[in-house]
Amino acid sequence: MKYQVNGNTDGIRESILARLDSLTECELEDGEFLPRELMKILAECSCAVNREIAVYITRDGDIVSVTVGTDCDVELADWRLRRNTNRLSCVRCVHTHPNGDGRLSDVDLSALKIFRYDAMTAVGVRNGEPTFVQTAFLTGEAADDEGILMDAPVRWYRVPDAEWLDRIIECDALVGREETRRVENRQERAVLMGIESMESLEELKRLAETAGAEVAGMFLQKRDRPDGALFIGRGRAEELARESQALEADICIFDDELTGIQARNLEETLHIKVIDRTTLILDIFAQRASSAEGKLQVELAQLQYQSARLIGQGLILSRLAGGIGTRGPGESKLEMNRRRIRERMTELRRRLDEMEKQRSVRRKSRERNEVPSVALVGYTNAGKSTLLNALTGADVYAEDQLFATLDAVSRRMETAEKTPYLLTDTVGFIRKLPHTLVSAFRSTLDEAALADVLVIVSDGASPDMLKQHDTVEQVLEELGATEQKRIEVINKCDEADPMPAFPGAILISAKTGMGLGELKAAIAAALQETYIPTEFMIPFSRYGILAEIRGMGRVITEEHTDEGTAVTVMIAKEDTEKLIRKYGADILRQKA
Ligand code: GTP
Repeated sequence: MKYQVNGNTDGIRESILARLDSLTECELEDGEFLPRELMKILAECSCAVNREIAVYITRDGDIVSVTVGTDCDVELADWRLRRNTNRLSCVRCVHTHPNGDGRLSDVDLSALKIFRYDAMTAVGVRNGEPTFVQTAFLTGEAADDEGILMDAPVRWYRVPDAEWLDRIIECDALVGREETRRVENRQERAVLMGIESMESLEELKRLAETAGAEVAGMFLQKRDRPDGALFIGRGRAEELARESQALEADICIFDDELTGIQARNLEETLHIKVIDRTTLILDIFAQRASSAEGKLQVELAQLQYQSARLIGQGLILSRLAGGIGTRGPGESKLEMNRRRIRERMTELRRRLDEMEKQRSVRRKSRERNEVPSVALVGYTNAGKSTLLNALTGADVYAEDQLFATLDAVSRRMETAEKTPYLLTDTVGFIRKLPHTLVSAFRSTLDEAALADVLVIVSDGASPDMLKQHDTVEQVLEELGATEQKRIEVINKCDEADPMPAFPGAILISAKTGMGLGELKAAIAAALQETYIPTEFMIPFSRYGILAEIRGMGRVITEEHTDEGTAVTVMIAKEDTEKLIRKYGADILRQKA
């Protein structure tokens, strides 16, 4: 009969081997750190063979291995259920001391450090009975006592199970926090998992790289409906665990939104941090937000997303592990409890409302000056910032990364005919843009919705140009930006040679300047269509109308004649019609 007992088993009676072997089938109850029955069996066997015996117990209460040593030591093994070698291993080691001494030795403590066990326990054994038990925990280097927490030995029947189990969780959090600091300076290795398409996964790869990760592998499992518990199903999840381990990944990123339960179950199966696409995008936004408003918006979106996913104590590994998915725009607030999250969200909403009010005051004053606005919109990385730079000579952050720009940047421009306008660069759009983000960035995106003219920039060098264009259309629709005049532009034509895929599209290269003259002319023409120079003649007796006209359009000339004041204004056609309905067509200057 072959037993699964390891180590120095020579000469041990079959009955004892069978007894030890049967331990590997045992499962501890919830809330048990070290059951008395187990201690008794270990004590009896250890005495009978006069050798140390070690067992390894997982956090789920499974005994994964039994090892026999000599009378004064046992070879302790690296039992690691987590790839991350700086975190606790998720396995505790319990071993006997057949000399009766239940105290942990220096060798035991150094093994605890080397193998980063959840806990290291020694059980003293004399005359076939357990005597004293001592346990030590790792707390990380930041804590005192060289990073080890150890109480005095207790009598074997007084083992404080609940307290010691809690301590594992506390110590794991401490070690995790230390790891957070370490991870922040290190590139994380990611594996990506999707169920939709390779295209979507490729984009996820770019997002992961933008967030600072190194992508070690990508897996696609085509399925129509995700599995409720594990998203990809148990069998595939277990396979993914092995694949991730082989690729030495620290993090697994899913291409679709995971529920809190799915994320937790997957972390338990994969033993590495698990995040989803939305968390990744929020993380990038958190790193990129530069304006005060942008930072608050990102934080709010993160908290919204997180609060919908809090389960139990919220001790999801991804939040303890640090790095991608845990970064916030301000100080780290991602370990808050429900109540604190709610309070913080209320506070953020209040501050954002205030800012929104100020913004609409600013916007009104802009409207009053009647400077028409032109917004550059498009898929992320289409080249909007580069185009804004090329058109204005402004210095806007442009990089070959997704979401280089988060805050709307506006520049004052003039057409060749001296019509002034505001040119605004907006945040890039993306497939599966998290909904919390669309609403969080509503006010920024409103710049696009409110613009008089939209320049839709497409990336001519991307094989997905048409799909990306569809996404942009969808987001614009969501924002209610459907009425304005649109100019279609295909950028990066220096690199690719795209066909004008949209009727009337202008082929440009923001990099070389190709086609920019044509684009400027198109913008001027679009503005002309919207804003028409119109001449009014207002009798002195109706002076009030003049003030109203001035508020609606930009005055080009103003002249006092015998009949009254003659003004030429750049004004929207609808506004002229409104004035005529109100005051009659007489206010228009009759051409001689
Ligand atoms: P987001 O901020 O993510 O919305 O991106 P964006 O649309 O503002 O793109 P950005 O201007 O940052 O440009 C993205 C990348 O495309 C950069 O590496 C640019 O150098 C490159 N790029 C922009 N325009 C051109 C172009 O006309 N030709 C070529 N070859 N590359 C370009």
